[in-house]
Amino acid sequence: MKQVIIDVDTGIDDALALILAINSGKFDIKGITTVCGNIPVELATENTLKVLKLLKRDDIEVYEGCSYPIAREIIFKESVHGENGLAGELKDINIKKKNEKHGVDFIIDEINSHPGEISMIMLAPLTNLAMAFKKAPEIIAKIKELYIMGGVVDGRGNESPVAEFNFYTDPESAYEVLNSGVPIKLIGLDVTRKAPLFESDLDNIVNNSDVTNFVKNITNHYIDRASIGKDVRRCLLHDPLAVAVAMDESIVEMKDYFVDVEYSSRLSDGQSICDFNNRYGKKPNVRVALELDRDKFMKMFLKSIIG
Ligand code: BDR
Ligand code: CA
Repeated sequence: MKQVIIDVDTGIDDALALILAINSGKFDIKGITTVCGNIPVELATENTLKVLKLLKRDDIEVYEGCSYPIAREIIFKESVHGENGLAGELKDINIKKKNEKHGVDFIIDEINSHPGEISMIMLAPLTNLAMAFKKAPEIIAKIKELYIMGGVVDGRGNESPVAEFNFYTDPESAYEVLNSGVPIKLIGLDVTRKAPLFESDLDNIVNNSDVTNFVKNITNHYIDRASIGKDVRRCLLHDPLAVAVAMDESIVEMKDYFVDVEYSSRLSDGQSICDFNNRYGKKPNVRVALELDRDKFMKMFLKSIIG
């Protein structure tokens, strides 16, 4: 079983990703770290604990990480993720306390205790990992691999015209991680745009349970927000797709490229730069997911909800 740490800013699609990761039974989850991104880190921690409680898996520890990106401010807006980051859901659920250890220290200790064994699934700005690299550079050589939901190499962003949200929010951290030398599989908008969940897909969820009702409610909200100005009612399953690739890499086609990220520009901070034609002459540092078997992914995703 793959040993993983999952890093989240829970968020609707992070919540769906956690459901997939946990219900798949494919992972030995060593712990979950939280970071600011979609919402403040304290709320991300609370939401993560709530999702674990809903799934009856609050034996998994949650470690709160960084409250700010490494070198810039963050402005939280009521986003596509709604009122509490979970479309107003799970307001009255009782949760246990977060673990007192800081997320960055948890990452450092866990990687140091299991060298070469742990894969990390990164579903948020990369601040916790970049901080861990600064504090304990020896862990860089000990991480097995990274699955990162972030970036976009076709130039069309979702937060700025050219930048994807997770890279845009903390591009300095994205830079540290991309250039660290750790094996990276990048699941960016190029491929998550090929993973739409249509409103009609929800009709497959026929059974009634606390989990299915939660999924339907948050997803309906996500679809409402994501479909503004669009002809079709759908949302994109960014974070669940990164988890699904960690479960079964054969659902995507990946190609090796050198990818970097801009962080000091007037217009393009957070933009991923993919050297398709090897103009820099550098060794590829990333396996970029570019094509997707949507049917296979959707089956994995729906199975994790329906059972
Ligand atoms: C990413 O940004 C966040 O809003 C989502 O949770 C996902 O991690 C997509 O750009
Ligand atoms: Ca996320």
